[in-house]
Amino acid sequence: MRWLLLVATLIGSSICGREKFLGDQVFRINVRNGDEISKLSWLVNSDNFKLNVWKSPSTFGRPVDVLVPSVSVQSVKSFLASQGLEYSVTIEDLQALLDNEDEEMQQNEGQERSGSDFNYGAYHSLEAIYHEMDSIATDFPDLASRVKIGCSFEKRPMYVLKFSAGRGGQRRPAMWLNAGIHSREWVSQATAIWTARKIASDYQKDPALTSILEKMDIFLLPVANPDGYVYTQTHNRMWRKTRSFNPGSPCVGTDPNRNWNASFAGQGTSANPCSEVYHGPHANSEVEVKSVVDFIQNHGNFKCFIDLHSYSQLLMYPYGYTVKKARDADELDEVAQRAAKALASVSGTEYQVGPTCTTVYPASGSSIDWAYDNGIKYAFTFELRDTGHYGFLLPANQIIPTAEETWLGLKTIMEHVRDHLY
Ligand SMILES: *[C@@H]1O[C@H](CO)[C@@H](O)[C@H](O)[C@H]1NC(C)=O
Ligand SMILES: [Zn+2]
Repeated sequence: MRWLLLVATLIGSSICGREKFLGDQVFRINVRNGDEISKLSWLVNSDNFKLNVWKSPSTFGRPVDVLVPSVSVQSVKSFLASQGLEYSVTIEDLQALLDNEDEEMQQNEGQERSGSDFNYGAYHSLEAIYHEMDSIATDFPDLASRVKIGCSFEKRPMYVLKFSAGRGGQRRPAMWLNAGIHSREWVSQATAIWTARKIASDYQKDPALTSILEKMDIFLLPVANPDGYVYTQTHNRMWRKTRSFNPGSPCVGTDPNRNWNASFAGQGTSANPCSEVYHGPHANSEVEVKSVVDFIQNHGNFKCFIDLHSYSQLLMYPYGYTVKKARDADELDEVAQRAAKALASVSGTEYQVGPTCTTVYPASGSSIDWAYDNGIKYAFTFELRDTGHYGFLLPANQIIPTAEETWLGLKTIMEHVRDHLY
């Protein structure tokens, strides 16, 4: 009995150790012109308010979502009113959403510990995801294997699931499916692990998938930022970056999607280690990024690179670092439009399609720009559900619907790649 109590206390303490967001709210602010964007940028960059940007200002007038700490709620409201900026409160009680999420996760973990199968409609710890990757490899030994591609800054293994119907170990054309590079975007890791099980169980059942796997291997990295992911569960649910140290700065972490060698440190990044879009000291400084780059370069035959993020419901292709049109933009746009249509056919979820830079905002050093500039033509970023009602805190009951619709989008892209190998 006492032992049970101790266990309960230990489980409880890992949750209690997390940062609280009591009274914090998420605001959606409308910006209609350059003047309003400047006002908003001033607000966001001002240290006084301690805002955390969920959805950045863009040049195209999409609304901006910011997390406003309780201490700043009144002053931010006054500022917005005095500047004539329209806003609404999209999340009234952030901590209540977090408490729900925690409770659901703990309940599910309890069920899984007492023998239930991995529940794809729930969020999981890193260990549980890694364990499920192992189970998939065990259940489908002729198709799937778990490969370690490196270790994170805090020395956690980075595992990839490799799906290969080929024999003899030749380097077949391959596609890379990446998720969770930004740790707080939980529906991306969850969608990736669902997708892994889907690939394994639909092989030789779904003709389209089977024909894809007859020509290509699929490599799937469900947790591209394992340290960040653990940190979102132990310390701060809103953590986005890696957990590497920044010498001389009190702030931790680099934005791993500004750290790739593609116009490194250019537009849409920051040289300030405290920024959420800090690009890091040099390209590939983050071991999580370097591990993927090395793996892809050593392999040498990747044709497709897809990065799953959340949220906003966007399907984007290069470039993020320039407004210049990519050489293959017309083809990529056509594929992306079809993928978005297939995705919407499941339950009507609408996606916007376009190149990163002009669809949202400039972003240099991103994964898909690096992939594209290094000869991987079919490079896409998905920003999964939703459009901001829950933002990063998408309820677990939307994981499977998100994964199912995304799967049709992914398959549309993979079929195109299969038919256009180069
Ligand atoms: C980045 O790419 C350029 C070529 O575009 C290369 O010369 C340079 O060595 C690369 N840097 C790193 C850190 O890989
Ligand atoms: Zn992201």
